[in-house]
Amino acid sequence: MDTILTGITTTGIPHIGNYVGAIRPSVVASLDQRTTSFYFLADYHSLVKSGNAAEVATSTLEIAASWLASGLSPDAAFYRQSDVPEIMELSWILTCMTAKGLMNRAHAYKAAVAENESSDNKDPDKGISMGLFCYPVLMAADILMFKANKVPVGKDQIQHVEMARDIAGRFNHHYGEVFVLPEAVVNDSMPVLPGLDGRKMSKSYQNTIPLFSDEKSLRKMIMKIKTNSQEPGEPKNPETSSLFSIYQAFSSEEEVLRMRERYAEGLGWGEIKKMLFECINDQLVEPRKEYEKLMAEPEYIEQLLQFGAKKARQVSRPFIREIRDAVGLRPLSKD
Ligand code: TRP
Repeated sequence: MDTILTGITTTGIPHIGNYVGAIRPSVVASLDQRTTSFYFLADYHSLVKSGNAAEVATSTLEIAASWLASGLSPDAAFYRQSDVPEIMELSWILTCMTAKGLMNRAHAYKAAVAENESSDNKDPDKGISMGLFCYPVLMAADILMFKANKVPVGKDQIQHVEMARDIAGRFNHHYGEVFVLPEAVVNDSMPVLPGLDGRKMSKSYQNTIPLFSDEKSLRKMIMKIKTNSQEPGEPKNPETSSLFSIYQAFSSEEEVLRMRERYAEGLGWGEIKKMLFECINDQLVEPRKEYEKLMAEPEYIEQLLQFGAKKARQVSRPFIREIRDAVGLRPLSKD
């Protein structure tokens, strides 16, 4: 039986790119009876990216509500990383088994150093915290704590999962077989969504469409998506159209075929946008209602997270005892 685990950093508000790339496939996987799944809010990770306490707290609420409203299975363990203290404990134990040289090679750290060097900074480590440097170790602790063998992630996170595997291997070699070696799972079939300006939809480009914006804002944003200047009546190329890429992520194969025909017939951009809006909105009406309901009841979300943490700790508590024992952190006598 597979154990699937993935973390969601609690910064920002989910957008429709996060929905098709991460939330929707995870929800589907969580409903699969043949797997055990762990989904968690990586709030300790968010401290690496944001020093804004209010932002971290708000984002935790919005992300939790988004995942629940999207239909995450109640069978999945859905918890907040900071409610499972064993993860932190494991993080230190793993830190001591991690070569500094391995962390030197992490893309995110290297990119930050490269940026300092290219901007002629005297200090190549300017603005780089130990949190950023050790980020992959914490991520390894998240994964190894629950013996996850499959870790669904975006392409940018593959290296981190491979590092978790390296760290686990080194630990097992040194102390004996304790950890399961995880594997990254990347869903290549789902294209990366373009944003309002045609570049990849990403918070850092400020070109996103928030997942649960109200109907009016959703319509307005879709109307703003960049197109070329072709007139109604002119045949249009779906392959170079952001509207088409987004439509594809929300439609069946037949619907996509029909849309291709509309492009060939020269349907106007305004009409195409209207169809895209209706297609997305129809799918979001119900979850949006649920989202609004949940956002109005943070106590209820809190209860669910506490329940999730309890479930997670049923695994992490006994396992951390084993891990401590393996490294020699043990009671001095048996009784
Ligand atoms: N680093 C991941 C991201 O930014 C989030 C994350 C934290 C994660 N811990 C994890 C993903 C463990 C998978 C497994 O997207």
